[in-house]
Amino acid sequence: MSEQQHATTDDTDVTSEKLVELAKRRGYFFQSSGAYGGVGGFYTFGPQGAALKGNVEDAWRDRFAVAEGNMEIDAPTIMPEPVFEASGHLEGFDDMLVECSECGASHRADHIVEDNTEYEDAESLPIPEVEEIVAEYELVCPACGAGLAGQAVETFNLMFGTNIGPGDSDPGYLRPETAQGIFVEFPRLKEYARNQLPFGVTQIGRAYRNEISPRRSIIRTREFTQAELEYFVDPEDDEPDLEAVADVAVTLYPASEQNAEDGSEIETTIGEAVEEGIIGDEWVAYFLGVAKPWYESVGVDMDRFRFRQHLSGERAHYAADCWDAESEVDGNWIEMAGFAYRGDYDLSKHEEYSDDRFTIFKQYDEPKTVERATVDPDMSYLGPEFGGAAQDVVDELEALAARDREAFEGDTVEIDLEGETHEIPVEKTGFSVDEETIAGEHITPHVVEPSFGVDRLVYTVLHHAYREDEVDGEERTYLELEPEVAPTFVGVFPLQNDDDLEAVADEIVADLRAAGLSVTYDDSGNIGRRYRRQDEVGTPFCVTVDYETVEDEETTVTVRERDTTDQKRIAVDELAETLSAIRDGDLAFEEL
Ligand code: GLY
Repeated sequence: MSEQQHATTDDTDVTSEKLVELAKRRGYFFQSSGAYGGVGGFYTFGPQGAALKGNVEDAWRDRFAVAEGNMEIDAPTIMPEPVFEASGHLEGFDDMLVECSECGASHRADHIVEDNTEYEDAESLPIPEVEEIVAEYELVCPACGAGLAGQAVETFNLMFGTNIGPGDSDPGYLRPETAQGIFVEFPRLKEYARNQLPFGVTQIGRAYRNEISPRRSIIRTREFTQAELEYFVDPEDDEPDLEAVADVAVTLYPASEQNAEDGSEIETTIGEAVEEGIIGDEWVAYFLGVAKPWYESVGVDMDRFRFRQHLSGERAHYAADCWDAESEVDGNWIEMAGFAYRGDYDLSKHEEYSDDRFTIFKQYDEPKTVERATVDPDMSYLGPEFGGAAQDVVDELEALAARDREAFEGDTVEIDLEGETHEIPVEKTGFSVDEETIAGEHITPHVVEPSFGVDRLVYTVLHHAYREDEVDGEERTYLELEPEVAPTFVGVFPLQNDDDLEAVADEIVADLRAAGLSVTYDDSGNIGRRYRRQDEVGTPFCVTVDYETVEDEETTVTVRERDTTDQKRIAVDELAETLSAIRDGDLAFEEL
């Protein structure tokens, strides 16, 4: 039976302002520290938001850690400076800053250019060119309207710095990505993986970026949650199970189409996209194929979803290729995840900068016989010739033998030492080429990284779930959240403030909670208002205990479904089992 007739407005009518207002009023999210005026880029998830976010994280963990057989870790959010020297973040994790000379406001110069000119990817332009565009288009400060022409555009490092312990001798940074917490622990993590590639390590946690201009509520914040998977592979031998995702239909927006004048998105499948070379790396393709149905399962509207390849100037310093998962919100595409091929960049850097080994020993199927060129210099010659620099000469000779054995073919060999060339008789180097049998070699694994922004996904899920309709001539707002992620699964109401009804309702709440369902109890206001409250937070079902429940021989309650507002009567002793089956996808409400 239908509670009332209702008509739904076009889903895309929702505006972010309405969502942000609802989010604050109903406890999804709001700007933090409001009692002190608030501070840009920091948001608190309220009771509903924290539950929704936790459910999304659990769903991610189930799919990307548990179902894929990957490990999960939990590393600190503050890391010492050398980590970020190695990772390249100290040197290259910058945005373009322009300050207004009139009002002092700081802005991202590339955003001002993109918002006010035909340039779409200003981030990839050199700074002098951005300064020229600012002047040529007479761009102005978005805060006060003063002209910005002539203002210097500077690089601004996005990491939050701190000092570890008293004094400033031990600088540290809040991690700008959870990934580094995984990379620096690779020497131990590979042991847990029994030194076998491929293996994956996940982490869900906070990351920090001191954004010049945080904007659009929880879409661009200074503290946010990432769910990242670092998947370590042998680039020569490991292949993903592409067949498992080959038929997944995807909307792709490759760089070539973005660069073409009449370029457009391509509807294809993962299998075809790999065959046609649209997605260059099979591992990246595999994870796009895993991600698409997962996004759908948590409630992202697939008509407002695509994968977009980064343009070359847009890629992070570590990425050889990258595709973003994007959702459309209020007519704008926002990045929800990046799927980057990081190659051996990170592990090689940490090997170079640290004292540990970031390689893995790759055992050959059969031992191999190889030729190895070595030196065994005559120190009685090098000592008197080079004095304290003799050991440096030995190091140079060893390195030269390993990389260029032909250099030893003449009577003398040349080496460079501090800018000076020296000739050394080959007979004094002890050069020889010997055969050696080896069982394997140390290789630096390559990394494929699916990196999800949790806050942006929560925003998208809420935005895509937002509905307005009319019920009995009254406007209603509801969130059509997937039961798997909805903060509350069921609301339980006694129809009136009546001891008998309340006693049954209390028992039902206890039963449903014991069955593992997330339940809220509400006995305030008329029943219509209680339904509206739950509709607005997206609770899929409401159970009402009325006089029929306590008076009839068979004890039943009304169960009302959120989207259709249809109601059915269900026996109380079957309630927990029935609702659990619906939550687990084993039963549909219409089938009752
Ligand atoms: N780890 C990728 C990113 O933070 O963007």
